[in-house]
Order: sequence, then C-alpha cells, then structure tokens
Amino acid sequence: MSPQQTVAEAAPEVRLSGIGKRFPGVVANHDVDVLIRPGTVHALVGENGAGKSTLMKILYGVQKPDDGTIEIGGEARRFSSPSDAISVGIGMVFQHFMLADNLTALENVVLGAEKLHGIRGAARREFEAISERYGFGLRPDVLVEKLGVADRQRLEILKVLYRGAKVIILDEPTAVLVPQEVEALFRNLSDLRAHGHSLLFISHKLDEVLAIADDITIMRRGTTVGTAVPAETTKRELAELMVGSELPSPGTGESTVTDVVQLRLEGLGLEEDGRAVLSGIDLTIHRGEVLGLAGVEGNGQAELVETIMGMRKATAGRIVLGTEDITGWTTRERRESGIGYIPEDRHRHGLLLDSPLWENRILGHQGERPNSRGPWIDREGARSDTRAIVEEFDVRTPGIDTAARALSGGNQQKLIIGRELRGEPVLLIAAHPTRGVDVGAQAAIWGHLSAARAAGLAVLLISADLDELIGLSDRIDVILRGRLVGEFDPSEVTPRDLGAAMTGGDQ
Ligand SMILES: Nc1ncnc2c1ncn2[C@@H]1O[C@H](COP(=O)(O)OP(=O)(O)OP(=O)(O)O)[C@@H](O)[C@H]1O
Ligand SMILES: [Mg+2]
Repeated sequence: MSPQQTVAEAAPEVRLSGIGKRFPGVVANHDVDVLIRPGTVHALVGENGAGKSTLMKILYGVQKPDDGTIEIGGEARRFSSPSDAISVGIGMVFQHFMLADNLTALENVVLGAEKLHGIRGAARREFEAISERYGFGLRPDVLVEKLGVADRQRLEILKVLYRGAKVIILDEPTAVLVPQEVEALFRNLSDLRAHGHSLLFISHKLDEVLAIADDITIMRRGTTVGTAVPAETTKRELAELMVGSELPSPGTGESTVTDVVQLRLEGLGLEEDGRAVLSGIDLTIHRGEVLGLAGVEGNGQAELVETIMGMRKATAGRIVLGTEDITGWTTRERRESGIGYIPEDRHRHGLLLDSPLWENRILGHQGERPNSRGPWIDREGARSDTRAIVEEFDVRTPGIDTAARALSGGNQQKLIIGRELRGEPVLLIAAHPTRGVDVGAQAAIWGHLSAARAAGLAVLLISADLDELIGLSDRIDVILRGRLVGEFDPSEVTPRDLGAAMTGGDQ
C-alpha cells in the first residue's frame, strides 16, 4: 500500500461492541459500545477514570480487551500490538509526545516506519505533500527541539498520517495548547475530516467538544452511558451525564490579599548555553494572593518555576521567601521551608510511577511530618495520611498500595495536589493544577486552592486554561521570551486579550 493510495481512501467504520477490560481491583471498561462513523470527529467524554484512555489503547492495540469485539470496516479484528492497528489504518497521538528532540521533523516521521527505508526522496515528498494538504506548515529539515508544542503535535499527527492512518485517536490534545493554538488544531482536524479521515477526540473541555465534534459518546464508571450530537445538547447536560453534577466556574470570591510579602524575585535571570532564558524578572506575591502567569509554552515559565524550586541555578538576581534569601538553597531545603510544588510534567517530576501511592506521598516531603519522625521514615504516618488524601481529594484507586502508574491521568493529578496542599505550604508553585481533570474534580481543586488562599497561602499559578487563570488570579503577569511584558487585572481582561499579549500581539 503506497501512501499516495491511502490518502484517497475514506476511513472505515469503526465499531466497538461489548468491550470489557479489568485490571487488579478495577473494572476499567465494561459493556462499552461505540460506533465511529467514517469521516467524523467523534468525541469521548467522561470523568477521570471513566475508562476513555483504556478504550483508546484497546483500539490502538496497546491493551488487550478481556471481552468484546472490534470491527473495522465491518471486519472483526484482534490486535496484539499497535502495528496490527496501524496496518488497518488506526493511529494514535499520545499526550506525552514521543519525538526525538535531536532529529529533524522528517527523520522523526521516517523513524520506525519501515515501508520507506532507502527511499528518502520519496519520504521527503510524502512529508511535504501531507504538510501541504492539511495546512500543517511543517518543514522536513527543522530540528524538533526548535519546535513549539503545537508544531510538535502537528508533527505527531503527520507521523501517523504517514503510516497510513485513516482513523486518528487524539487523547487530550488540547490540554497543552493556548486558545489560538486550539483554533489552529481544529482547522487541521476539520481539514482531515473533509479528506475522509475519522478523528477520535478526548477532552475535558466541553466547549471544545461542542465546537468540533459530530458525535459525542459519554462514558461513566467504565461504560458508555449515552451519545449526543452538539446541536441537541449543552455543556450542562453533558456535565450531568458525565459526573452527575452541574458545571463549575472558577472563582475565588473576595480578595484575601494581605500586605505581607511571601515571595519576592529581584532581577532574576537565567542564562543557559550563552542564551538568556530569563531576564530581569521582578515580582512579588503576598500572603493570601494568587499571582497568575500567562504565557505560550516555551517562553520561560517552566524555567522560572524550576529556578524558584532550585532545580536550575539563577545566574542573576535574588529569590526571597518571606524574609529569607533562598537563592543558594537546594530544592530540598526550599521544599522543607514550605514551598509546595505542582509540577508541569507529573510523570517526570511529580510521581514515582512504579511505586505505591503511599510512597508517592513521601516524595519531596521526606523530612516532614507525618512522613518522618526524627531522622526516620514514619511508614504508618505516611500511610494513614495517604488514605486521608485519597478521601479528601477523591483519588479513585483500589487502595494506597496501588502503583501510581495504574491511576488514570486525572487521578494522578489529584494525588499530587492533595500531597502538596496537605503539607500546608506557605507558597505553592502550581503549574497547570487542573490539567486533565474532569469538571467535577476541577471544581474541587479550585475550592481547595481558594480555601488555602483564604488561609494565607501565596500561589504562583501557571495555566494554559485562560478562564482558570482569570477566574483564580488576583493579578496576572504575562511572560514572553523570558521577560515579564505586562500585568493585567483579571476582572477586566478577556482570554483573547491575554492570548494576544502572550504571543506579542502577532496573532
Ligand atoms: N495499567 C493499568 N493498571 C491498572 N489499572 C489501570 C491501568 N490503566 C488504567 N487503569 C485503571 O482503569 C480505570 C480507567 O482508567 P483510564 O486511564 O482509562 O481513565 P480515563 O477515562 O482516561 O481518565 P482520565 O480522564 O483521568 O485520563 C482507572 O480506574 C485506572 O486506575
Ligand atoms: Mg485518560
């Protein structure tokens, strides 16, 4: 099958019937029925742990179902690996991109696709043809490390198209994008649909689902509980079907800002490999205040967070926590002096995926109660506190001895937030605290944050969800190319204004 031929064909119908999948202590999927009509965008919604990712991994051959059938174009199929799924035109883009930074876009696309070994010229032409056809604007020779997150995502899509995918699964693709980038992605998805592809789209953002989907399947507690079409449903109705509750909106209520400065950055700079990553950052956060930081990914916010946490060493300026200059302190010393940290990449920095939940409770908090008594780890203290977190933050898990890896994405996030807030920090550095959590859990996390703020917590909030940023912040600073370029009053600014400031007004 040459790639030229595959693009002309329409997507096959995909029918999942009676799918079941059990893990130790958990029924991830049972009696799941989904029909994906050719050439449609099919959204899958449901609360955290409802079984969406598991179902998609089954369709992509990563997981084997215990029950049920998969029919592709009317033919029953059994997949024992992704290559079986790929061979019948199913592709998947994961949330954690799998690109090699030090290779070019073209090399990444060809990597692992055996069909075109030795015919580089053809591969390049095919790359360019796909990029052109769907308006991706990707150049084959660009180094992946130079690409922003939206382009990386397009490259992942190009990669699966190159392998002949007709049905493309996107698991929470918009969680990492700003509104302008979401619009661009949706234009790409519409073009793909117009060319006969089917797209499976998972998102917790119901506005997006209503904007792009032709069909919506709703999952709850492992099974499909209904289908809907955007013209005949509302966000509220979807939220009720998903989680059985009404739609929350972010808000912290009355100002609790005090005049006690909790964090002060003075002329903070970071130079790496001769390049200025952060320059002249001055900011203060008071007790009881949430300072929002808006920025397109890659403009220094991740480095700023890591510099405050001591994972990178500032090359200029000072970091003052309360009255203490902590610029030279280790990460551990900073954490022990009361800085809570919700990292952007929960897999790399937030969790030990193969360790049980209760050991994850201790991570980063080794020297604190209830995890330790004197120099010793207090196993019982940590275990009972983990149970309390699971309860209070509604972490859906068979128990505290379950490995973190076995939790759904949103439940991993809830565990981290619970751990960081339980330590009663004086300052919380929160990067995308509700990324990947469902609307019910989102409301709960907002509630926890605003209660902690009212009790005097200072928060640096980074979020790609601009409604959240506006709803929770007392002030919003914009970061662009490593500098703070403007400050906004959340009661006056719109997501669109912020988006414009974040891109330097060029979009
Ligand atoms: N490899 C695994 N081992 C054990 N349990 C698992 C595994 N993968 C998923 N589960 C469990 O299956 C259930 C469904 O998880 P899944 O990841 O499919 O949820 P989801 O709908 O994608 O949720 P989210 O919106 O949080 O991403 C959860 O209870 C989860 O803990
Ligand atoms: Mg998931």
